[in-house]
Amino acid sequence: MAIERKHLLYFLTTESQPSPFDINMAYDAGFHAVIPYGSVNEESAVLLVQDIIFSRGPKGAKFSALFIGGNDIESAERIRQAAAKSMFPPFQVSMMIDPKGSYTTAVALVAKAEKALGGLCGKQVAIPGGTGPVGIVASMLCVKLGAEVIIGSRQLSGVQQLAERLSAQTGGSVKGAAMATDEDKISHLRGADVILTTGKAGIQMISEGVLKALPSGKLVADVNAVPPTGIFNLAPNDDMKEVVPGIKGIGALAVGVLKYDVEIEMLETIRTSEKFTVLDQNQALEIAQRRLSIGGSRA
Ligand SMILES: NC(=O)c1ccc[n+]([C@@H]2O[C@H](COP(=O)([O-])OP(=O)(O)OC[C@H]3O[C@@H](n4cnc5c(N)ncnc54)[C@H](OP(=O)(O)O)[C@@H]3O)[C@@H](O)[C@H]2O)c1
Repeated sequence: MAIERKHLLYFLTTESQPSPFDINMAYDAGFHAVIPYGSVNEESAVLLVQDIIFSRGPKGAKFSALFIGGNDIESAERIRQAAAKSMFPPFQVSMMIDPKGSYTTAVALVAKAEKALGGLCGKQVAIPGGTGPVGIVASMLCVKLGAEVIIGSRQLSGVQQLAERLSAQTGGSVKGAAMATDEDKISHLRGADVILTTGKAGIQMISEGVLKALPSGKLVADVNAVPPTGIFNLAPNDDMKEVVPGIKGIGALAVGVLKYDVEIEMLETIRTSEKFTVLDQNQALEIAQRRLSIGGSRA
């Protein structure tokens, strides 16, 4: 009697303790087992991937998959490169990359804003607290969709360097601005069409005073579900709620539901794909846009 092949997900992350968030999601997406490896670096990734690809033979490869995570985008991307270089046909296993949930979270945030505004091309997007992984990926996605971006930070020097790097990387317009005080925020956010708050969990980035000082007609959206949320009067489940007269907001769980759906679809895809597949923020964006029916009836 043939033995049933099990679908195995190898979770390689630079963090010392792999996140239960992604492990739980992988089981919910149908993997029979999730095998986490923490503190992975480029050298150990090569050795792990070789053992993963050779042990089950060419026919077994499609029953194994990789999830690459980590504290920061650069180190996760280095592991992705090391893993990709270690594989060759027919010893290839599908993989997805989502360091600290930043790819799927930023994709959901940006796609929700894109849907609400009917597109981001030509829009000014401000991202207070945008120096973390979610903000950085959101900036790159907004540029990809044709927007101009201002990233806000408490420190000007670091955010200016980051903005220069992202402008060079994306070929678009990314500026850095100090947003340490309410006065700073009002002056930099006044001209924005969209404000995406991606600050640390439990930190209110936009106060009542800032919101009330801004011209109406803007959209605000947040990813911080930990009280206090990132934007005054914006609860996690709110979806296009008026937070102050003339300004509508999308809360962290309204974004989070889409993030969940996108991540599950990515995990299911690498579990079931018959051919070698690599999924990152670009494929995640396509999934989110299809789910929100952005760009026509692609759903
Ligand atoms: N909804 C979801 O499914 C989901 C999934 C993943 C993450 N998230 C949320 O997404 C948000 C961003 O995540 P992340 O990992 O990118 O964030 P992060 O790296 O923890 O923080 C982002 C930025 O917040 C700023 N910051 C830190 N402490 C601050 C303070 N006391 N006051 C003002 N600003 C402060 C810092 O910028 P400066 O030092 O440059 O000022 C930091 O770079 C978090 O709220 C997280 O909970 C949501």
